[in-house]
Amino acid sequence: MRSITVSAPGKLMLLGEHSVVYNRPCIVTAVGQRMFVTVEKTKDEFFELNAPDVNVRDYRRPISETGNGEIEKGAKFAELAVANFINKFPIAGGLKMKTKSEFSSQFGFGSSSASTVCVIKALSELFNKGLSDKQIFDLAYKTVLDIQGKGSGFDVAAAVFGGTLYFWTGGKIIKPLSIKHLPLIVGYSGVKADTVTLINQVKEKADKYPQVIEGIYDQIQILVDEGKKALLKKDWESLGEIMNFNQGYLASLGVSTKKLADIIYAARENGAYGAKLSGAGGGDCMICLAPEEKIKSVKKAIEDAGGKVIEIKANEEGVRVE
Ligand code: PMV
Repeated sequence: MRSITVSAPGKLMLLGEHSVVYNRPCIVTAVGQRMFVTVEKTKDEFFELNAPDVNVRDYRRPISETGNGEIEKGAKFAELAVANFINKFPIAGGLKMKTKSEFSSQFGFGSSSASTVCVIKALSELFNKGLSDKQIFDLAYKTVLDIQGKGSGFDVAAAVFGGTLYFWTGGKIIKPLSIKHLPLIVGYSGVKADTVTLINQVKEKADKYPQVIEGIYDQIQILVDEGKKALLKKDWESLGEIMNFNQGYLASLGVSTKKLADIIYAARENGAYGAKLSGAGGGDCMICLAPEEKIKSVKKAIEDAGGKVIEIKANEEGVRVE
């Protein structure tokens, strides 16, 4: 039977995490380590999945039951994506699927969202539905919300559209920023963070100190808009400074950690223009920008502070058929 392979990029948040959950903008870039999903039609009416990167092997259930009852953890996003697709576009027969990632699900590069996007794009191609990028975004974002309950959808947008995006909560605005190159350095903190837990922690603070937290979100929004201008002018020095401001606000939201701060300070002290955590915080990655001649010393400083440098290409292509 005909099979199709689709790939989508991971993502890194440049500016605006957390505030983007609350009707505000952010800037996200797609990273060139990709998620691959291969889908094949089958005659029997089962959904089969192999996703060895997340320990799912020979997972199999009746296709009519996808999305219902207890779902194995590593299978959730792929299975719910299938359920949401066939709910809209009923299919005959079954599906066999396998996923393969170029990056570890530990880094916080958005592997769940990237695989959700791949599944929906692959099904759209396999069943000739011709879904537009925005339709793929909407269905994939719905899938992520069905599972997580919360999230702005910025990671889904990065996986679908690629490049570097100015993104507003829920996809109200998804605007590609036309840049060619983004010299990001990425350091992994060695700690896996849980996005929903961190969103909830910030929510508790917002419930207790609504004006303070709203004020911080407003400031972050200004930084996102300033950052967008600096990015378009390739003014890495200003963008670095804006990252530093943003990191300060994230620390005051309580989502930075000692480990992240150590790596961030090490990068700054060794010549980075600016450095901040990227994503929900609590762990995952930090990002920084540095002048060409300082890149080596900044990378060494990140490693010396206990981080792991991850080589990525930013501004990568969105979802595509391989
Ligand atoms: O933890 P990550 O990398 O998925 O980033 C989360 C960013 C948040 O703004 C906290 C959540 C969101 O969906 O925008």
